[in-house]
Amino acid sequence: MASCTLFSACQNSRLMIGDKMEWMNELDEITAYGREHQIPILMDESLSLIKKILKEYEHPRFLEIGTAIGRTSLMAASIDPSVRVVTIERDEDMIRQAEENFKNSPYAAQITFLKGDAREVEIPEGPYDVIFIDAAKSQYKRFFERVSPMLAENGVIISDNMFFHGLVEHPERTHNRHTKGLIRRLKQYTDYLTSLDGFETSILDIGDGVALTRRINHA
Ligand SMILES: C[S@@+](CC[C@H](N)C(=O)[O-])C[C@H]1O[C@@H](n2cnc3c(N)ncnc32)[C@H](O)[C@@H]1O
Repeated sequence: MASCTLFSACQNSRLMIGDKMEWMNELDEITAYGREHQIPILMDESLSLIKKILKEYEHPRFLEIGTAIGRTSLMAASIDPSVRVVTIERDEDMIRQAEENFKNSPYAAQITFLKGDAREVEIPEGPYDVIFIDAAKSQYKRFFERVSPMLAENGVIISDNMFFHGLVEHPERTHNRHTKGLIRRLKQYTDYLTSLDGFETSILDIGDGVALTRRINHA
């Protein structure tokens, strides 16, 4: 199948709806589209980690903050029909594209798409086995405070972009004030996660840096 350069062109390959195996090609096209249009989709290594973690649960419930064009939600839903996905996006253009991608996929019934700001939108209370924080970096702590009470007992919260393209380790590489502010917020977020009571956090050198935060069960 030819790869599509325009989002609308991607809509020509709907013949395969219902055929989940073949629909994986469409997921590749969504990935290619995202890369081509500089949409900040997740790095493959981090996506593989999320898929691996989701497979640890029997009927995984996945909450994602920051949908973009829906690639990770679709990948998660494609793992197994028992996976339930709730994903949140506030940008209108992303919402339009993700909505199209969900609607035209065989996974629409597994995905609840919440449109609005993740700090405010009403979120079905869960519990969620895997929560993925991948939206505005400056707000990670607020997202965490909001969603951590929705985490299942043996659940995990994954935060992406903890290294912020290597700039967290090497802040001298940027002179942009906004970027410097984000780096500071990400460092504060790391300190916050690693000092939290009742949770254990590991920072993994995967993709752009991934924080895995699990509840500590005092059995
Ligand atoms: C890095 S992209 C998400 C990529 C996606 N998770 C994936 O794996 O392909 C971040 C997205 O978060 C959205 N976003 C940023 N702040 C948000 C907020 N407060 N509430 C909801 N969405 C937000 C942005 O519009 C953007 O589409």
